Formats: sequence, structure tokens, C-alpha cells
Amino acid sequence: MSRVALLGVGAYAPTKVMTNEDWSRHVDTSDDWITTRTGIKRRHMASEDESTSDLAVAAARIALSDAHLTAAEIDEIIVATDTPDVYIPDTASIVQHRLQAREIPAYDLARGGCAGFLQGVDIACSRTRSGGKALVIGVQLLLRLIDWKDRNSCVLFGDAAGAAVIAGSEGGGEILAVVSGTDGSKSAMISMEVGGTRLPFTIERAREDLHRRVSLDGRRVVKEAIRRMTQGARAVLEKAHCELDEVSLFVPHQANLRIIEAVARNLKLPMEKVFVNIEEYGNTGPASIPLALFEAREQGRLRQGDLVLLTAFGAGLHWSAALIRF
Ligand code: ACO
Repeated sequence: MSRVALLGVGAYAPTKVMTNEDWSRHVDTSDDWITTRTGIKRRHMASEDESTSDLAVAAARIALSDAHLTAAEIDEIIVATDTPDVYIPDTASIVQHRLQAREIPAYDLARGGCAGFLQGVDIACSRTRSGGKALVIGVQLLLRLIDWKDRNSCVLFGDAAGAAVIAGSEGGGEILAVVSGTDGSKSAMISMEVGGTRLPFTIERAREDLHRRVSLDGRRVVKEAIRRMTQGARAVLEKAHCELDEVSLFVPHQANLRIIEAVARNLKLPMEKVFVNIEEYGNTGPASIPLALFEAREQGRLRQGDLVLLTAFGAGLHWSAALIRF
């Protein structure tokens, strides 16, 4: 068996919505600044009684149902997240139990940022190529953990989960190729530093809210994101021996509308072929790609035979791209 398929996709966003106007009551910002710079209008926010695994399980159940499978038929679970339920154990073990999956391998791709979901798909393709079914989940619940006083970062993010069933099988959408890469030399461009072994969590640091601080070198991140998502798109097309003009739909990571438009321009893809939902969700990190793919399908923008290009970029710096024939 060498064909790997995407058999099902699911997504879940909490019902509570936070608008740009809502943020302007917390920090010195405006709807105009956020909309013009990012394209974001709203983002969804988990309620107090929701944790990361709640979002993950909700998305996973939709993906399983879409694939006409039960959790008992899954052979591996990969959860890409930067915001685990608890520090130890990982979120995958909680998800495995809550889904009532068998005693299969389950693990987090922890803190891989916004490219985490596609990295998970890359791993799942290798693990299932000779048979088997993997559930890959991307989930983020960052609004609870970041500094609500830091306007440079807080307005950018939203909470959500997305999931996909990947299998060595016939049917579904054929995953023609996946590529992934890392440039750790630029890891300081996107970071949350307090809480690890270099700067352990202490009361003194907590008093200054340092554990909530997201360091972002926004302008340099924009440049790198455009460069790497363009490069990833070209590399995955080359690997699959496909041409850009064959692409029916481009589903990029939703971090900033300006980044998306610039990548589309570089690839000479008209915006009609680009799926954008950043206005509604903001940057949902590793949930962004499966959430966008799910919504594209719900909106009738994925038809049989379509060639769909996915690209992601984020903290690490990691990037990843995939090409799927539906
Ligand atoms: N409201 C109002 N003003 C703000 C806000 C805000 N929410 N945030 C920052 N500013 C101010 C800054 O203080 C700064 O003011 P100053 O010039 O007086 O110092 C000014 O706005 C910065 O403006 P610009 O440099 O023009 O902002 P830019 O166009 O670079 O946009 C943004 C900033 C949106 C963060 C952009 O750089 C970006 O999208 N970066 C990439 C996104 C990102 O880093 N995401 C993190 C995850 S990685 C990923 O998903 C790819």
C-alpha cells in the first residue's frame, strides 16, 4: 500500500466571540488598526470550563464521523499544540482516553507553533503508508495564557481545534506530497520564554506576568512567513510533479491577511483560489489549516478532482506544505 489519503476532516471553535471592539476596551488599539494590519475582525475564545482537550476531542469526533470511523479503529493519535491541558502528561494521552481509543501510540508535537498540524500530517503519512489510520489534531487555546495587556500580541490570536484522519487507504483525498523544514537560527523571532528550564516559572516572574509574554518580531516574522510559505508551496508542487496552474484551491495558514496576499502574489494565484477565514478566527496556530480546510469543504469550495495546496509557517521557525487531490 503506498497511497495515503485524507479520509475525514473536522473542526471546532468555541461559541464565544471576541471582537476588535472588545479588545479596544482592554488595550490601546482599534478595529481600524487590527483590520488594516491583519485582516482580523473577530476571534473565538474558549469558555472558562473548556480546556485544550475539550476543543481537540470535539474536532476529532467530527473528523472521525466524516471518515465513517470510530475511535477504536484509529491506530495512532498526534496532537499538535503549544497550549497543553497540563504540563505533564501531554494532551494526546488525555485525548486518547476521552475518545476511548485503543492503547495505541499517542503523542504531542509540542510547541511546534503554527506549522504543527502539517508536521503531524507529514509524520502520519510516513506512519500509515503501509496501512493503518492516524488521527492528527491541531489545537490552540492561547487566549487564556497570553498577556491581555500586550497589544502587540494579544489581538492576533484565537482559540480553536481542527482534526484530520490520515490513512494508508483508497478513497478520500490523496495526499500527493508533504514537505517540512526548520530554521532554528531564527527561533527568537517568535517565543514564550518563561516556564522552561532556562527561565523557570517563579513567583517574581509571575508577578510581572512574564510567563504570559509572547515575544514577536512582527515585521521580520512577516518577511520570513512570506518567504518560507512560498518556498514550501513550490517545493511540495515539485515533489508531486504538479504545476501551480493545476491548483484549484490554496489554503494557507491564517496569521495575517497581508502574508496570505503576498504569498498568493508570489505564486501568481488569484485571490479567488485562496481560502481566507482569518476575519472570523484570527491566528489559531496549529488549528488554522484544518479549520480552514473544514470550512472550505463546508462552503462547497472542495470538489472531487480538485488539487488543494496547504502551507503553514510558525514558531521554530518551522514550515510545512502539503498537496492533496480530492
Ligand atoms: N493596536 C494599535 N497599535 C499597535 C498594536 C495594536 N494592537 N500593536 C502594535 N501597535 C503599534 C506598535 O506599538 C508600534 O507602534 P510604534 O511604531 O509607535 O512603536 C506600531 O503599532 C507597529 O506598527 P507596524 O510596524 O506598522 O505594524 P506591522 O504592520 O508590522 O503589523 C503585526 C504588526 C500585525 C504584528 C505584523 O507584524 C504581523 O502580522 N506579524 C506576523 C504575525 C505574527 O507574528 N504572528 C505570530 C505567530 S507566527 C505566524 O503565525 C506566522
